[in-house]
Amino acid sequence: MKAVVYHDIGDIRLENVPEPKIQDSNDAVVRLTSSAICGTDLHMVRGTMPGMEPGTILGHEGVGIVEDTGRNVRNFDVGDRVVIGSTIACGYCSYCRAGYFSQCDNANPNGPQAGTSFFGGPKATGSIDGLQAEMARVPFANVGMVKVPDSVTDEQALMMSDIFPTGYFGADLAHIHPGHTVSVFGCGPVGQFAIISALLMGAGRVLAVDCIESRLQKARENGAETINFEEEDAVDTIQDLTGGIGTDRAIDAVGIDAIHPHSPPAVAISERQQQLFEEELEDVAPELLSHREQAERWHPGDAPSQVLQWAVHSVAKGGTIAVIGVYPESMRFFPIGKAMMKNLTIRAGNCNHRKYIPMLMQIVSAGSVQPERIITQQQPIVSAIDAYRMFADKKAGWLKVELRP
Ligand SMILES: NC(=O)c1ccc[n+]([C@@H]2O[C@H](COP(=O)([O-])OP(=O)(O)OC[C@H]3O[C@@H](n4cnc5c(N)ncnc54)[C@H](O)[C@@H]3O)[C@@H](O)[C@H]2O)c1
Ligand SMILES: [Zn+2]
Ligand SMILES: [Zn+2]
Repeated sequence: MKAVVYHDIGDIRLENVPEPKIQDSNDAVVRLTSSAICGTDLHMVRGTMPGMEPGTILGHEGVGIVEDTGRNVRNFDVGDRVVIGSTIACGYCSYCRAGYFSQCDNANPNGPQAGTSFFGGPKATGSIDGLQAEMARVPFANVGMVKVPDSVTDEQALMMSDIFPTGYFGADLAHIHPGHTVSVFGCGPVGQFAIISALLMGAGRVLAVDCIESRLQKARENGAETINFEEEDAVDTIQDLTGGIGTDRAIDAVGIDAIHPHSPPAVAISERQQQLFEEELEDVAPELLSHREQAERWHPGDAPSQVLQWAVHSVAKGGTIAVIGVYPESMRFFPIGKAMMKNLTIRAGNCNHRKYIPMLMQIVSAGSVQPERIITQQQPIVSAIDAYRMFADKKAGWLKVELRP
């Protein structure tokens, strides 16, 4: 079968690999009909999320048809159409039972303290082969897969694999009350769903920050007021738009590959911080620096803590920041002093996908949200590497990879 395989920083290839088989009683094998690429895949290709094992199949978003099930998968039949949640969870440990599926004690082969296990990630997360492939083995499939009703299309379901639940999780972490003003940093696919979810939860206003005009346009379509940080200072503008108070809530939907402004007026500030950002990069992702040439083609960020700084400075006193943009374990830079002085609440983590997918399926099935509106491109698996390139170059807002023959 064809699959997108990680080899090294900046080196991913479409290859023929053996088809997966049932290994454990809770496994299913799924024939994928579509997959997708999100910012998390890019961190790994760029080298800002270190520790990838060569040979790992990438991808953690997928919809498909159940091909085979282990004897303890009692809730699915061969032929069922399913969406696969990105994170893997057993469903029976105390964390899963409390809804903390991404902190499952049993899913990560590296042990209960190793953290979240997800498809197509670094060694520390499994490694579990991913979903940018014609077929995949799904561990704990009885928990990780959700049936897709006839009223929901593959395209809609694909967004419930990761990006919609993650955006919703961000808004949930931010603890939004009706009427709140919420900033969302990053208008990639995850940021778009954070905007949609904040408004679903009753946010009065959403201020969305990015520097890509097509993504800001999409954010406006989704109901946000937009700020282009290459044209104006993000923090000053948020203050300006909120009567000098700041936002009640902030959601970081960017993570480790944040960039700093490169044009006036904010460039002056970022130039003063340049050395700090360089030191952060050296500390967080030394592998990236030794592979700079390969990584450069995939546009790694140049300012790891930029969004964390902006969020802390622009949220109101007593406000809450939700961090869903991914930072690797090696990231140690956060403006804790300023956050302390403002009595901020910081909440962060990997999405508990399985907690939200069934509820989001109902919302989409009822027509309250049309998630497919954020798809901008569709590519067959044979051009998966080009698809990665388009997404990394920001020539695609969100990209579906078609696997149907
Ligand atoms: N916590 C989770 O469970 C989870 C799940 C999925 C994705 N994620 C993470 O969410 C983040 C976003 O994912 P995505 O698919 O939307 O990624 P993406 O790379 O498509 O989008 C990131 C966006 O951030 C913008 N950006 C860069 N620097 C910025 C800055 N200083 N201020 C504001 N915007 C800035 C970029 O222009 C881009 O549009 C990634 O870090 C991804 O790994 C987290
Ligand atoms: Zn994703
Ligand atoms: Zn568990």
